[in-house]
Amino acid sequence: MAQDPIPAQLGPFELEVEAGKRYSWCRCGRSKTQPLCDGSHKDTGLEPLTFTAEKTETLYLCGCKDTGDEPFCDGSHLML
Ligand code: FES
Repeated sequence: MAQDPIPAQLGPFELEVEAGKRYSWCRCGRSKTQPLCDGSHKDTGLEPLTFTAEKTETLYLCGCKDTGDEPFCDGSHLML
């Protein structure tokens, strides 16, 4: 059974992304390279969310891992 995600920080991580590149957002909260996956989810039953950036821009990715709009911050950290 999957373990619960743990909050990495109670707020979003700002990440510059490049159009066409793939990124793996850490869903488990255990990565040391937030907000991206470093493989620390091993044995948690959780997997990262991989996405391709549509354009070069700054994204605000969820740090509390409780968002309802993965991988983006939706303000859920304000309710924790
Ligand atoms: Fe958290 Fe991979 S380290 S999902």
